[in-house]
Amino acid sequence: MRPAPILDPAEEAHALALDAADPLSALRDEFLIPPHGHGVQAYFCGNSLGLQPRAVRMEIEANLATWASLAVEGHFHGRQPWLDVQDALQQMLGPIVGSPPADVVVMNTLSVNLHLLLAAFYRPHGSRRAILLEEGAFPSDRHVAVSHLAWHGLLEEDLIEVAPDTSGLYRADAFAEAFERHGHRIALALLPGVQYRNGQVFDIAALTDLAHRHGALACFDLAHAAGNVTLNLADWDVDCATWCSYKYLNGGPGAPAGVFVHARHAQRPRLSGWWGHAKTTRFAMAPGFSAESGAAGWQLSNPPILALAPLHASLEPFARVGMPALRARAQRLTGYLDALLRTHAAGVVDILTPTAPAERGCQISLRVRAGRAAGRSLFDHLVAQGVLGDWREPDVIRLAPVPLYNRHTDCLRAAIAIQGWADSTSA
Ligand SMILES: Cc1ncc(COP(=O)(O)O)c(C=O)c1O
Repeated sequence: MRPAPILDPAEEAHALALDAADPLSALRDEFLIPPHGHGVQAYFCGNSLGLQPRAVRMEIEANLATWASLAVEGHFHGRQPWLDVQDALQQMLGPIVGSPPADVVVMNTLSVNLHLLLAAFYRPHGSRRAILLEEGAFPSDRHVAVSHLAWHGLLEEDLIEVAPDTSGLYRADAFAEAFERHGHRIALALLPGVQYRNGQVFDIAALTDLAHRHGALACFDLAHAAGNVTLNLADWDVDCATWCSYKYLNGGPGAPAGVFVHARHAQRPRLSGWWGHAKTTRFAMAPGFSAESGAAGWQLSNPPILALAPLHASLEPFARVGMPALRARAQRLTGYLDALLRTHAAGVVDILTPTAPAERGCQISLRVRAGRAAGRSLFDHLVAQGVLGDWREPDVIRLAPVPLYNRHTDCLRAAIAIQGWADSTSA
């Protein structure tokens, strides 16, 4: 029999007081929290699929109503004419990633956008034809990179993968060394903003500068960074980036993804489609392509209105509260979870994510220490307790307290559940 969870009333009172003292705690009421037993889950999976904002249903229904009552006229009339659907999204997304609104757009999905961006930005020539990734990159990123090499008739020897150190963290020195050795042959670096497995924040500004100094372009996968950490893509001179909208941005499963293209690449040749043609002459149906200015010129097809509707609702709190306040709350919550793990789970799990607040976002990645029961059994125990993180093969548990809807009491519940598992498995 598992022992009852150990809940120190003083510690619980402290967690409750921290939540009560934080005005942003009220944002949680704007979300639907999945049930668990007679209560709700402590949901730590916002780094995988963000929770549903209550306002989403209304937004979808409003678009269904427009379709029913106006049909094709919905492109021009109604509360949000479909032709202008990008405008509001661009206004809200720009500040989230640190970009002029015109240089971001919502389209397709992340892996598709990586392909479209690489089609335009990865132009191997002569000996400059390598792509640099971090070793252990998200599989889709590696598939995209390798398939672009193959598309150009190149082999995996032109894939340069920078390894983490023995602690599992990626070091600035390792990237500097890779560019020192191979810089003359690197065409493009494709790197994460936040590494999906260990939760480490990458120094986008420094990596972009490094790539540029060696004559390469810098493209970022911001799946785990957008809506999570502070981004200044334009100031950091990033060439291009893309991110999904279903994690920290709460746009719903498979939601259309975001893209940033630096203004200096406005005229770059690309794979194009009619929706990227200049808005003013798009419907002239002329054969020639003339790109709409900014990132909107990278669209191919007319946008999926019903899939974009949730984003109108889910980006609104970011616009209302602002990234600085959300990032500050995220650091408080993640710092609190980190401290709890170091007391309640000392000797039980190793924390794989950097400790410095600037070097991590919401996510803390854990690995059960060698010599203990298998990590998977801890994960299963947490799920049974209503503490939902996620499991990344072969042995990583990720917990992400999200500032929009997680509470300090969720963090305490996770730490207590881990302690309960450790006590029961060592008994
Ligand atoms: C870091 C990273 N890159 C790429 C992807 C692939 O995203 P999509 O399935 O939307 O193409 C994911 C999905 O979780 C991800 O976490």
